[in-house]
Amino acid sequence: MNILITGGAGFIGSNLIRFLLDKDKSYNIINLDSLTYSGNLESLRDLEASSNYTFVKGDIDDKALVSSILKEHSIDGIMHLAAESHVDRSILGPEEFVRTNIHGTFNLLECVREVWGEGSDKIFLNVSTDEVYGSLGAEGKFTELSSYAPNSPYSASKASADHMVRAYHHTFGINTLITHCSNNYGPYQFPEKLIPVIILNALEGRTLPIYGDGKNVRDWIYVDDHSSALEAVFTKGKAGEVYNIGADEEMENIEIVKLICSILDELKPAASPYSELIEFVKDRPGHDKRYAIDSSKIHKELGWSPDRNFEDALRDTVEWYLRSVDWCDRVRSGEYRSYYADNYGKR
Ligand code: NAD
Ligand code: TYD
Repeated sequence: MNILITGGAGFIGSNLIRFLLDKDKSYNIINLDSLTYSGNLESLRDLEASSNYTFVKGDIDDKALVSSILKEHSIDGIMHLAAESHVDRSILGPEEFVRTNIHGTFNLLECVREVWGEGSDKIFLNVSTDEVYGSLGAEGKFTELSSYAPNSPYSASKASADHMVRAYHHTFGINTLITHCSNNYGPYQFPEKLIPVIILNALEGRTLPIYGDGKNVRDWIYVDDHSSALEAVFTKGKAGEVYNIGADEEMENIEIVKLICSILDELKPAASPYSELIEFVKDRPGHDKRYAIDSSKIHKELGWSPDRNFEDALRDTVEWYLRSVDWCDRVRSGEYRSYYADNYGKR
């Protein structure tokens, strides 16, 4: 099966490609990625020699390129992950989110419609986020029937893409699938998201910035569990359907930061406990309070469930970052600088 993965040089994409190639030798993966600041071929070095893997550098918004890939590689299905993915950056500069996440997805759909044709049985899987549903209060969880209520330019761009995907199924008979996953963590996550920021800042003796009061809740899933869920949806999902993916691991940000500090105190003790570096900083504008996923549909209909619990997989993740300081230095050497450092400062 020839699978086009977009955004395969990013955090989830690189882990997904490794997962699929390990899992099934009949998968032939073509990775289309434009290598933005968050896309790094460093994350795929171990796979370069694989005969089942091809990298193409390019933009999902390039119609001629995408059409030629679909034809030349006889693509049977697409797992679409390429995106601008960080909420803070979407606040700083939303335009690229509109171009890549909305127009880029539209371009992929148009190419599919032209090359595969309307009513084709090939699959277009749109990898989306729980953030399209907006923010929860203290109770309840997002189901596939929850209303869309995106609050950040990032989540609004992902919601727009979802709507276009849905429309291409209903109007043109494209075999689409949409997944909404909760917050991922694991190896190769670009150090701008909470968990790698905290690990690396702690190791470098810098402050650990917690937005607002630290009581915002995210529902966490280990990246390999997301990959296994995506494979289940891609191979067994029903065309036109939506599947929520989560691992029932709700945590307040402050709890996670303290947990990382205690793991580091044990694995790499410093002169004083790492938690002394915690600093509460000015809140993110429009900061969603709580996300929580009800993933009973994918459990019941596709037989998927996650393998990893949060504490064990977080420890593995911290150990990976401790072993991978070179990777961190290289991916951070580009033009990216932290949104916090540039924009928030101390409260
Ligand atoms: P990431 O930022 O690490 O990776 C994104 C990748 O897309 C990068 O390799 C980048 O180079 C590539 N890319 C960006 N613009 C492109 C373009 N125009 N053309 C081609 N390639 C382009 O993001 P991630 O965390 O791996 O997220 C991957 C997908 O999963 C995204 O669609 C995101 O919305 C979704 N998602 C992420 C999470 C999470 O917690 N990280 C949760 C749910 C859903
Ligand atoms: P993030 O990893 O950016 O993911 P998302 O915004 O998509 O959920 O942030 C996770 C949570 O951590 C979110 O509530 C914002 C908070 N946060 C901090 O408190 N400090 C930080 O330095 C970062 C990056 C995030």
